[in-house]
Amino acid sequence: ARSARAATAAFGFTEIAHGVDETHHVAPGYSADILIRWGDPVVKGAPAFDPMNQTADAQEMQFGYNNDFLGLVPLPLGSAGTDRALLVVNHEYTSEEVMHPTAKLPAEPVTMGKASHRVTRELAEIEMAAHGGSVIEVVREGGKWRVVADSPYNRRITPRSTEMVLTGPAAGHDRLKTEADPAGTRCIGMLNNCAGGMTPWGTWLSAEENFHGYFWGQLDESHAEHANYKRYGVPGNWYGWGAFFDRFDIAKEPNEANRYGWMVEIDPYDPVSTPKKRTALGRFKHEGGGVIVNKDGRAVVYMGDDERFDYLYRFVSAGTYNPNDRAANMDLLDEGTLSVARFDADGTVTWLPMVQGEGPLTAENGFASQADVVIEARRAGDLLGGTPMDRPEDVDVQPQTGRIYVMLTNNTRRKAEQVNAANPRAENAFGHIVEITAPDMDHAADRMPWEILVKCGDPSKPELGAMWNPATTGNGWFAAPDNCAVDHQGRLWVTTDQGSGWARTGTADGVWAMETDGALRGTGRMFFRVPVGAEMCGPCFTPDDTALFVAVQHPATDGVDKYAPFGRKSTFEDPATRWPDFKDGMPPRPSVVVITKNNAGVIGS
Ligand code: FEO
Ligand code: CA
Ligand code: CA
Ligand code: CA
Repeated sequence: ARSARAATAAFGFTEIAHGVDETHHVAPGYSADILIRWGDPVVKGAPAFDPMNQTADAQEMQFGYNNDFLGLVPLPLGSAGTDRALLVVNHEYTSEEVMHPTAKLPAEPVTMGKASHRVTRELAEIEMAAHGGSVIEVVREGGKWRVVADSPYNRRITPRSTEMVLTGPAAGHDRLKTEADPAGTRCIGMLNNCAGGMTPWGTWLSAEENFHGYFWGQLDESHAEHANYKRYGVPGNWYGWGAFFDRFDIAKEPNEANRYGWMVEIDPYDPVSTPKKRTALGRFKHEGGGVIVNKDGRAVVYMGDDERFDYLYRFVSAGTYNPNDRAANMDLLDEGTLSVARFDADGTVTWLPMVQGEGPLTAENGFASQADVVIEARRAGDLLGGTPMDRPEDVDVQPQTGRIYVMLTNNTRRKAEQVNAANPRAENAFGHIVEITAPDMDHAADRMPWEILVKCGDPSKPELGAMWNPATTGNGWFAAPDNCAVDHQGRLWVTTDQGSGWARTGTADGVWAMETDGALRGTGRMFFRVPVGAEMCGPCFTPDDTALFVAVQHPATDGVDKYAPFGRKSTFEDPATRWPDFKDGMPPRPSVVVITKNNAGVIGS
């Protein structure tokens, strides 16, 4: 009764095995080729990568670190885009331990309270230049995709140099004003951009996730932003940038951290366009965005806030999408209704509108304007009664069925008394996937049915409480779903990020195909595996589904110190793997991989 589609397997490839080793693996009959690596030239005139002599100015022109979200738009605009496209890439963060030669690290750390980092101003600027995003022209020739060197579209976006504007209800608000920007409308760059989404009008939504990690310093408990910053974990003290740039020290620039944690919209077709932080979509640890045009023409974005016990959100635009006038859509995301999700045990999710003046979102409760609501979206969600989730990561929409897939990666801190229908496992180490259905394909509906598609982890160990279709093999189950993609035939693909938890499952992260229909619904099948210490990000299909771009993030890092046969922390000089170059002296490099079928057929067929 679930679907009109046939109860036969949507996927025909031969599964690969769980495991952990120094390189990547793909299903038989497929090729997985390196497209671009950290440090490779992006913009015209960029120097070749020189790992021992990195500079911020060179990095600013080269491919950044820790590639996460990948998106494609056709070239030229409006074409099918099957042979020529722009690939957009998020560079979420940097892994200093394998990025910088040890000899470049200062003997003495910079410190602030409990924070301590061996970093110089020069290294901090290299790190900043390695964050942000890239736009790269790619072409298919002879069945293989490659980067177009020196394309005028190629671009780097960084928190070191790229000016952005803040738009929507919080733009210009006092809480966004700083010494460098007394108008509260412009900031430099974006931070910790994890996943994202592509809009039907050909723009890139890049999600600022763990922005708290870039700030250090202290605010008095009496400061107006103290409680706000505490709710978001500011200061996170992950980087030492605050030693050299006052804007990352909250004592010196107490409003700067309100200018991050937004969804950023970027026009990849215009290499000098100014990225826009769309404050109407709320400020939280944005993982990504599942975008769909509703049947009434309004644009809908489903978004996760990746933190234990945080919420799932939805934005519905006020205006409607115009397929014949691209310019008319470019500010569609500035006005609309943001809602937080409450999941009930009767199998219904209710979208609770976050509108200033309605319900508890009053001036009395500290929400004097819609700016306050979006700046403190989490606290607004708390008061409205959103359902605390097991770390909502990526969300994607299956446009043919109106189903919405929500990746809930894990939450080992959930206690037995804190379980709820949508997050039913205490100490949820392996995560699960929730499926919501837009009733009558109405993505603006106030209420929608939902159910759990799978509970992750090893189904052969009953004590774990996993739930899979019994057709799932010993390699087909996975843990810690993070990113997902629906290909152009409506098939769901899931990628994982176990962090250092891979020793619990015995497999590195990877790409799994996920059956959602018919008798095989809830069956996983392993398609690709990353090298040790990496996570798998950015699954992105060409419009004809003959190529799958994936992002291998932070090879050699996560968990390598804890588990045999690695058992030591990676350094620049002695990493757990030198993927993908495997050359002495060359550090491991986060890279984009393009997967094609050797007979040029559809991926997964
Ligand atoms: Fe950057 Fe939620 O993963
Ligand atoms: Ca993620
Ligand atoms: Ca996705
Ligand atoms: Ca991740």
